[in-house]
Amino acid sequence: MCGITAFSGKGPALPFLMQGLSKLEYRGYDSAGVTTIENSGLKTVKCKGRLAQLETKLEDYHLEGHVGIGHTRWATHGIPSHLNSHPHTNGDETISLVHNGIIENYKELKDELLEHGYHFHSETDSEVVVLLLDYYYQGDMLEATRKVIERIEGSYALCIITTHEPDQIIVVKKDSPLIIGKCDGAYVAASDIPALLEYTKDVYFLDDYEIAVLKTDSITFLNKNFRTIKKELVTVPYDLEAAKKDGYDTFMLKEIFEQPHVIQETLRGRIQDETIKLDELDNIDFKQFNKVHFVACGTAYHASLCGAHILEHLIKVPVFKDVASEYRYNDPVIDEKTLCIFVSQSGETADTLAALRLAKSKGATTIAVANVLGSTISRDADYVLYTCAGPEIAVASTKAYTTQLVLLILFAYYVAQQFGHVDLKAIHELKDLPNLVQKILGDIDSFEQFASLLEHQRDAYFIGRGLDYTSVLEGALKLKEVSYIHADAYVAGELKHGPIALIEEGSIVIAVATQPHIAAKTMSNIQETIARGAEVILITNSLNPPIDARYTYVLPYVSPILQTILVAIPLQLMAYFAANIKGCDVDKPRNLAKSVTVE
Ligand code: F6R
Repeated sequence: MCGITAFSGKGPALPFLMQGLSKLEYRGYDSAGVTTIENSGLKTVKCKGRLAQLETKLEDYHLEGHVGIGHTRWATHGIPSHLNSHPHTNGDETISLVHNGIIENYKELKDELLEHGYHFHSETDSEVVVLLLDYYYQGDMLEATRKVIERIEGSYALCIITTHEPDQIIVVKKDSPLIIGKCDGAYVAASDIPALLEYTKDVYFLDDYEIAVLKTDSITFLNKNFRTIKKELVTVPYDLEAAKKDGYDTFMLKEIFEQPHVIQETLRGRIQDETIKLDELDNIDFKQFNKVHFVACGTAYHASLCGAHILEHLIKVPVFKDVASEYRYNDPVIDEKTLCIFVSQSGETADTLAALRLAKSKGATTIAVANVLGSTISRDADYVLYTCAGPEIAVASTKAYTTQLVLLILFAYYVAQQFGHVDLKAIHELKDLPNLVQKILGDIDSFEQFASLLEHQRDAYFIGRGLDYTSVLEGALKLKEVSYIHADAYVAGELKHGPIALIEEGSIVIAVATQPHIAAKTMSNIQETIARGAEVILITNSLNPPIDARYTYVLPYVSPILQTILVAIPLQLMAYFAANIKGCDVDKPRNLAKSVTVE
């Protein structure tokens, strides 16, 4: 979703703005722009397309201003175009702003402004905000901002600059991420931490409705009531290297290869003397709950399905799972005896955040499983467990998914301990996961060969049962999002209730069979597809699978619960290579955004 950068400091603003926008490219965008305050007034340069096009355009301008704002736009209201791209300015070009989010009541505000004689140049909801600032401005931009905030509904991260008060940026947020960085001789802001890392690791996290006024050498924070407050400066543990490609062609491949390390990091300190330690949750008595809800979107939802399955199996308490966009509108039964787990890499996904707030309002105990430190979901939940995947830049989630699986398995065992259940074998095997993942990565050539079967396919069929079904759901999502091959995942036993009608000579079936109690059943289902002409790629842990699949990969054998983590690697690499052979933009698939901060 949209990316924002802002700079107020001693040097020129443009270098920070542009490097920050490039670090936010992964969020997805279709146009980009910057405004700086020059001696002659506001200078705005923007265009439809990629940052490279903006850079070319900028060569004709000499932007040297010390205060500026930048934006990459992911279209919501209005097509991708020059006019709809940000920053937006008022009529006499004295105020400029960038906005991430959606102003839900923009139509009504627009009508009001039209009545006051204002003209609109774009189809965006954001232009309403800059014209509203113009309308309320009477010599004090902070006061105008206060009045605007009272009027706008929806979600926003806003950075506002004006030639009337040229040494400052006003920053305010609600339900959209915005992080402020303290540098030597500058204060900066951005939608996500990687945009700041080249300049600083010292950050402030803004809460909803909080306002910050950034100047070269001072910063002021105000709360909802416009009273001055103090905020804690936090040093984030990420390093710049982690946000670079490190010699890999793509972030996706780099992040797939980081998995042994980040799994190790996620396990670190959490297994001690054959016990799972999650100190963050020590105050919770899990026996008080009569049901558990897992809520998330996309890949995080697939990780949740696996976590939910394992938790229910271990503690025998009903566990429900839902995608966040459904949960919030399905009138779920939630009360004080409900434990709700929200899983989110970014910690900013709008639907997951709304679901969390719903659960809290009904008295549930909430736990966030998040990757981004200080993200809104991690701060809003009663408790938070962090995956230690580091910054995930590729839009398609890989290392965040496997670390979510690891953490949810640790969580399930942790809760199970309170119920008197301990699985020493699995606890020992957990420690060995990084090595096993490394070993599978060593077989990369096999997955490249398997992926070559997909090059000219329009469709692919993924099948599995039980936990293998949660794995194939994720495998199919990965393949379709990066390679644009239509892929669906089916419970293998459901094939003959409909989907098998699609199987014909040359269809590709990707089958996962790792769960000993049902593997034989899956093998029979695979056989049924082979009999109808399918070419099968089989991922199994059985050394002698009883079927004749030409393309078989045998995984290391571990406890069934842990097998999902190992299965993920071949499926990710097949999706990666399929996209690569087809020449797709692996890191930035079309139409997708990394952090989905709108409904
Ligand atoms: C797919 C993918 C998405 C995200 C989903 C939720 O590869 O990355 O499906 O998993 O948008 O995002 P988070 O985890 O940030 O809440």
